[in-house]
Amino acid sequence: MKKKAVSLIVAAALAATAAGCGSQPTGGGASTGGAAEGASGGAGGKQPTIGVAIYKFDDTFMTGVRNAISTAAEGKAKLEIVDSQNSQPTQNDKVDLFITKKVNALAVNPVDRTAAGVMIDKAKAAGIPIVFLNREPLADDMKKWDKVYYVGAKAEQSGTMSGQLVVDYFKSHPEADKNKDGKLQYVMLKGEPGHQDAELRTKFSVKAVEDAGIKVEKLAEDTAMWDRVKGQEKMAAFLASQGEKIEAVFANNDDMALGAIEALKAKGYFKDNKYIPVVGVDATAPALKALEDGTLLGTVLNDAKNQGKATLQLAHVLASGQVPSKENTGYDITDGKYIWVPYKKITKDNMNDAK
Ligand code: GAL
Ligand code: CA
Repeated sequence: MKKKAVSLIVAAALAATAAGCGSQPTGGGASTGGAAEGASGGAGGKQPTIGVAIYKFDDTFMTGVRNAISTAAEGKAKLEIVDSQNSQPTQNDKVDLFITKKVNALAVNPVDRTAAGVMIDKAKAAGIPIVFLNREPLADDMKKWDKVYYVGAKAEQSGTMSGQLVVDYFKSHPEADKNKDGKLQYVMLKGEPGHQDAELRTKFSVKAVEDAGIKVEKLAEDTAMWDRVKGQEKMAAFLASQGEKIEAVFANNDDMALGAIEALKAKGYFKDNKYIPVVGVDATAPALKALEDGTLLGTVLNDAKNQGKATLQLAHVLASGQVPSKENTGYDITDGKYIWVPYKKITKDNMNDAK
């Protein structure tokens, strides 16, 4: 209740500010950019300012996306990138500040994707286009304004691919069915509950196994919030309760998979023929190292580079008042507002594709 009241006051104050100024940034991105702090003066004076809010800096995959956004902005746009520290109220404050400064476009990786609607209302009132990334706003929120876009990847695709990695292993290694019951006994390390990637990767990875004609039995499932240390703790708990019964480990991302591998190593796995297939998603640098070492069975490339680049291109085009298209962004735009960056299955054999 209290939080809601505060954000209402902030919204009201902002509306008043906007009304007081009596001006909305229009097509002339360069001239309105002059109002934003840091956008005026110098040779780069014509570059639009883009306010970027990341859900938290301390996230391996999002750090890759953040770096890709910065690289893509070189010589093109002035970036202000802020850390929302995994707090939606903090992110709301940062976005409010960007709006007050009249940035030319916003790029937001929401802490809570259901909070996108409020940010859209504010951005719309101020006439500032907004691109969301990585955490997909609800479809109804996306429809609120024509200057709302989303850059991401189809979560179900990554789930299906990680399931297929386990299927391939199970089919080619009869000994993987340790208790010889014809079923795959698995444990699941989930990302943040409610996140489209956590929910859909969980669902579609298991579905891929079932679709391949393999019966499954879930021994345990818990969230480790995308986090390596939590992944290790949860896996240690699974090993304590399920022990030798576990035949495969699904993790919704690589950090949790790597944590699970640590817990497995502590129990003597990955040597003397003691093995268990572990799959993740992202294809981060440490995950590729684990593929090379033979601890991680496989992962799915979550293309940080293209997600970052597409976000910047979109925000840049919108900041200059243009309508985004394949020609001016370099990416296909689906349903008028989505850029979907494809995933790719990665094993030791094709790891160079992810480097
Ligand atoms: C996912 C990614 C996770 C985590 C999450 C943050 O796409 O696989 O590792 O970064 O996004 O929202
Ligand atoms: Ca079995």
